[in-house]
Amino acid sequence: MSTVVVTGAASGIGRGIALGAAKRGKHVALLDIDERALAGTASAVLAAGAASSLPLMCDVSDERAVEAAFGEIADRLPAIGGVVANAGIEVSEPLASARVDSWDRVMAVNLRGTFLTSRAAVDYWRERKSEGSLVCVSSPSAFVGFAGGANTAYGASKGGISAFVRAAALDAAPYGVRVNAVVPGATDTDILYFGLAGEALLARRAELEESAKVQIPLGRMARPEEIADAVLWLLSGESAYVTGSHLVCDGGLLAKSANSF
Ligand SMILES: NC(=O)c1ccc[n+]([C@@H]2O[C@H](COP(=O)([O-])OP(=O)(O)OC[C@H]3O[C@@H](n4cnc5c(N)ncnc54)[C@H](O)[C@@H]3O)[C@@H](O)[C@H]2O)c1
Repeated sequence: MSTVVVTGAASGIGRGIALGAAKRGKHVALLDIDERALAGTASAVLAAGAASSLPLMCDVSDERAVEAAFGEIADRLPAIGGVVANAGIEVSEPLASARVDSWDRVMAVNLRGTFLTSRAAVDYWRERKSEGSLVCVSSPSAFVGFAGGANTAYGASKGGISAFVRAAALDAAPYGVRVNAVVPGATDTDILYFGLAGEALLARRAELEESAKVQIPLGRMARPEEIADAVLWLLSGESAYVTGSHLVCDGGLLAKSANSF
């Protein structure tokens, strides 16, 4: 059984992907910066049926950390078949007052992190002359501006990831490596509630659930495991002829115009 590597695996969509890989009996390497949550997910992954689970503290924006993590996975786990560059952060600031350090941090984690993870993965497969599937996590904000605004850094980072995926697919194809993106719509994870806790978090969730009923054609937010199913299909042999593509998994959000004329 092969190994699946997931970045940002401690919570949310990454945790969902790790659990999905575990249910398919894979060896799962989990990379994240949140040590406590990572340990919890690693145990849950084993309980869900993973052949093994390897939690690694790794900041995806740090070149040496990413290289070291892939080195350790290569030493300790069977051949890597799939890699998911999922780790991401969002900072919501209106453009006129947006801070340079926020811009740099979002670009470092989302865009450089995706580049470093992807480079390590493609190099691994090229060196071993083995096939692999890489999935990067984009967003509807790669394609449209969010109506709520204050999303320039995040949107630019995700637009960069979408362009990166197309270019990377061409570089990786000669090695038999596929590179695709998943585009999750609003998914009920911590990223939507950053900085909120207790009552404030519950109030925000209720607000988002009400908005989803009106704004999302399927009338609700996604669950992490629904995004995970799309990612696991892209990792599997069932998508063997798919590369350079985007799999939109957004309940119809991008298909819909707010205008009725
Ligand atoms: N939730 C949504 O609505 C939504 C929609 C579209 C795209 N996405 C994307 O999905 C991905 C996963 O987000 P999520 O919704 O599960 O959020 P989340 O906050 O639940 O999970 C993100 C994970 O990434 C980890 N992380 C953050 N910085 C890191 C770093 N430097 N190195 C390694 N790990 C790091 C966090 O610790 C966390 O475990 C992100 O790329 C996000 O942009 C989310």
